[in-house]
Parts: sequence; C-alpha cells; structure tokens
Amino acid sequence: KKVVLAYSGGLDTSVIVKWLQETYNCEVVTFTADIGQGEEVEPARAKAQALGVKEIYIEDLREEFVRDYVYPMFRANTIYEGEYLLGTSIARPLIAKRLIEIANETGADAISHGATGKGNDQVRFELGAYALKPGVKVIAPWREWDLTSREKLMAYCEQHEIPVDFSKSKKKSPYSMDANLLHISYEGGILEDPWAEAEEDMWRWSVSPEAAPDQPTYVELTFEKGDIVAIDGETLKPHEVLAKLNKLGGDNGIGRLDIVENRYVGMKSRGCYETPGGTIMLRAHRAIESITLDRESAHLKDSLMPKYAEVIYNGYWWSPERKMLQAAIDETQKDVSGVVRMKLYKGSATVVGRKSEQSLFDESIATFEDDAGAYDQKDAEGFIKLNALRLRIAASKGRNQG
Ligand code: ARG
Ligand code: SIN
Repeated sequence: KKVVLAYSGGLDTSVIVKWLQETYNCEVVTFTADIGQGEEVEPARAKAQALGVKEIYIEDLREEFVRDYVYPMFRANTIYEGEYLLGTSIARPLIAKRLIEIANETGADAISHGATGKGNDQVRFELGAYALKPGVKVIAPWREWDLTSREKLMAYCEQHEIPVDFSKSKKKSPYSMDANLLHISYEGGILEDPWAEAEEDMWRWSVSPEAAPDQPTYVELTFEKGDIVAIDGETLKPHEVLAKLNKLGGDNGIGRLDIVENRYVGMKSRGCYETPGGTIMLRAHRAIESITLDRESAHLKDSLMPKYAEVIYNGYWWSPERKMLQAAIDETQKDVSGVVRMKLYKGSATVVGRKSEQSLFDESIATFEDDAGAYDQKDAEGFIKLNALRLRIAASKGRNQG
C-alpha cells in the first residue's frame, strides 16, 4: 500500500507523513511543487528523508501552472462573485493532476492532502483526483484525526520525534496563507471578524497605495491570441510575465482585496488577497478585447464567465462543462492580439491606450466629425422605430405607464 501526499515541507504536512505511516501502515511518497509560492522547495527533500520517505518528488511547475491554467482562465476575464481572481482555486487542478500521475508512476493506490474538512481545497483536490483516476483512494487526515489544535500537533511531533525546527525558525503567521504565482491569500486569525480591518503588516506582496510612489509607472503589454507575450517589447514566457507584473503591481499598491465569499461547502468565509499581476492582466485583457472582439461574441462570452468562474471555484476544472466553456472562450481569442498601454499609480491600474492590427474600431465611422458617408444617420430613424414597435404597441394598450 502506497499513498502520494501533497507535501509542503511545513509542520502540518510533516505530521501527516508520520500519521499516514502509522495509521495506514503504508509507504508515503511526497510531492512538493514550486508554483511560485516564493519559498524554497528543495528543503522539503531533507525533511521528507528524515521522516523515512524514499520516493520524493520535487518539481518546478511554474511554467506549466501559468501557461496551462492561469492564462486559459484569464482569457475569460474570470472573477468569482465579482471580486475574487481565483488564485488558489486555479492551482488545485494542477496539483491534483500531478498527484495522480505520480500515483500511476509509483504504483500508489491512494492520494492525500493537508486541506481541512471545512474548505474548498479538499473538494478541488478530490474532484480532480477522481476525475483523473476513478478508483483512487483519498485520505484526508484533517477529516479523520483528532489533532485539532496547534498544541495537539506539537505534542504529536514530540511523541514521534518529528523535527520541528521549521516551526521555530520562522515566526508563525497568525493567518492561514496560500501563495503561488497568481496570488497570496490570508484567512483566519483576526480576519474571522468581517468587521475587523486587516493589519498593514499582514500584506506581503504589495505596498499600500498610500505608500506607493508619487510617480506613475507606464507599461506596455503585447497580446497574442488573448495571452500576454511581451512586456515593453520584451518577449517573456507566461510565468515570467506574471512574475514581472506582480513586481510592478506590488510596487504600485495594486491588487489588494478584502472580501467575504461563499465557499462551495456552504459557509461564508472572509479572505484577503493580493493579486497584483492578475489585476493588471485582467484590465489589460479587457482593453485589448474591447477593440478586437465583435460585440455579440464579447457579450455572450461575458455571460458565460460567472458560470466558468463557479466551475473553477467549485473544483470542476477536469469536467466536461469546463472543457466545453474553454473551447468556446478560446475560439473567441483568435484575433485578440495587439498592445495595451497601462498606467500604474497608487493602487490603480488604468488603461491609457490600446492598438491592434485586428482592431474593429473604425475611426472614420465613429468620428464626431464628417464621416464622408460611411454611416447614414437617416438609417438610425428606422432602426429605432422598429425596435420601439413593441414598446409603442404596449403603450397604446395602456401598458408602460411608468
Ligand atoms: N478562499 C480561497 C479559495 O477557496 C482561498 C483558499 C486558501 N487556501 C488555503 N489553503 N489557505 O480559493
Ligand atoms: C482549508 O480548509 O484547507 C483552506 C480553506 C479552503 O480550502 O477553503
């Protein structure tokens, strides 16, 4: 019996390694990925070894994460409940996929993770795992064990001689955090009171807008088929684009968010997020679409977006409906190419210019000056009259009386 564990190298998942070995008497394979969380992943090797783990997977998935998950999601201008840019949600399907691939490679029949039984992450990991390997066994220690407090966890470490240097070396954050190239999230602690303002020193990726430079920063983003391929003319890979925009955005106080959201499991939850690069990307993408997309496909695409966001938030990345929506969204992006010029200033990312070879914007038609017959204003009269027909009929029958 063998189980593949999503292992961060932190205290909780180290306890899980030991607990799995003891409780299930099984071989544990650890999987640790760099998805841009900004912490070294290599130290996880020695920690896993110290726990007796023989098969240790440590991988750099930054490129795949942004190219195959973040970028496709941004083609839809995706936001959950009008605010959340899905930074954690979009990373889970990739972790689920690698857990299953590693299970197949190592002959494991089970996977395990360190998500609690109250959140979205358990749902995302497990829906992904079942979608990719229907017979897989899932072990979710947080739903099974009684190590329900910090104290109990520490006691367990002592009993089992789990080296806890990692808990002492860093000051333990009062928040439950999750980070990757797209965002960093904070939940728990004082945030559990939705009225309490987050302390300034909680934020790790951005300066406050008040403390941001008094001079704006301008940046030009080049799009190809809906994806950013260059910044200020320099060609970059997707994960390099995001890293650079995170820096530019963070330096200018962009991308902070404080919300209460609806978790799939039914409860409301308060979370704070920093998504500097994503916030810029979203604005810029809408700007390039504004000149390259046909109105009706743009509006239809927008109407699908909340559903697509919900599909990702709820953990259904590896579902037929997500693939169907993705195909529709990708189809719209064929001509979404060009350049957007942005001004970053004290917390805001403003579009100040957009241009494209594929632009549908026609100055000669839109002009307030003489359009030399490109648009006959007399045509508008019949257009309006016919569109008003049903309103006029209703009004003549006494409806629409205010
Ligand atoms: N509430 C956010 C989401 O469901 C963030 C979850 C953060 N996860 C974590 N393990 N701290 O996507
Ligand atoms: C967790 O419960 O493990 C984190 C929060 C979430 O998944 O929603």
